[in-house]
Amino acid sequence: ADIVVVAPATADLMARMAQGHANDLATAVLLATRAPILIAPAMNPAMWSHAATQRNVRQLERDGAAFIGPNAGEMAEQGEAGVGRMAEVPEIVARIEEMLGANDKGGFGFISVGATRGPRPLLAGRHVLVTSGPTHEPIDPVRYIANRSSGKQGHAIAAAAQRLGARVTLITGPVQIADPEGVTVERVGTAEEMLAAVTAALPADVAVFAAAVADWRVATPGRGKIKKTAGNAPPSLNLVENPDILRAIATRGAGRPALVVGFAAETQTVVGNAQAKLKTKGADWIVANDVSESTGVFGGERNQVHFVSAAGVEPWPAMTKADVADALMQRAAAWLADVREQV
Ligand code: CTP
Repeated sequence: ADIVVVAPATADLMARMAQGHANDLATAVLLATRAPILIAPAMNPAMWSHAATQRNVRQLERDGAAFIGPNAGEMAEQGEAGVGRMAEVPEIVARIEEMLGANDKGGFGFISVGATRGPRPLLAGRHVLVTSGPTHEPIDPVRYIANRSSGKQGHAIAAAAQRLGARVTLITGPVQIADPEGVTVERVGTAEEMLAAVTAALPADVAVFAAAVADWRVATPGRGKIKKTAGNAPPSLNLVENPDILRAIATRGAGRPALVVGFAAETQTVVGNAQAKLKTKGADWIVANDVSESTGVFGGERNQVHFVSAAGVEPWPAMTKADVADALMQRAAAWLADVREQV
């Protein structure tokens, strides 16, 4: 190897490196290599600032290792923030190139992150807006109505658009998955918050509505926790309809994104319902998926979709959500390029 990169590097690995341990593959390689070593630490802020970790960092620097990051920001743990986030991947790649003298030699073909190298990226200069995940509609301060959406498909679309060079805004409900790299992420709770965030993020060239927005919210959520009192009947929930974000954006006159893409989550009559949604919601395309429990789409890695537009219905083969995302964003880029030519 020309360089050995440890990303992410934990406090424990750095401690063992500083001591010269070689009792597993990673530390053995790190001890035996003659190549330069680049370390990208990632850990809880308290662990990073601990005297022991800082001592190990100084030792490793004296031993010749280079460091990148950690950066300040939010941690994977809910509510934790501080210095300890791993440097962003593009920063790490830039540092690798610097260390390898790649800039002097005109760059290494094998290092490619997203669409930063090679031909002009297909979505360069475009703004792509994506909604993802479920929404949570409060019943009272401790309870909410939600659904099984994992956010995987929406997040994959945001990542695919970013790889094609777009500026991407991802507006997501509560999910348990990581933010895609290089994307502006806005977190919301309810459908109403999602609509406000989407409207504020316009204008956009492409808007993809992959969120599983709750159709209804509780009309007046309890201000305090609703108590169960012995002998009383369970409370009934009075539901009102949420705004339809896709329809609101697709049917607005001024400021409508050039391309509006919706999803259709169906358990029966998948294509027929998707075709109906294309019309009633004013979308240009609908990506229809069967979310029956047996398909494993909700929360799973794979998806089998029908691509529905005014031109007809295309059944796409079963593939990963990442592949669906890539195919969809390439299609969007080609569509925008055609529109541009016609202008
Ligand atoms: N959608 C939205 N806002 C809503 C409901 C849905 O933006 N309040 C969007 C979804 O993001 C998706 C599309 O509309 O792109 C279709 O969502 P789906 O849940 O399949 O349809 P619904 O409109 O909720 O209709 P139904 O529940 O009757 O199938």
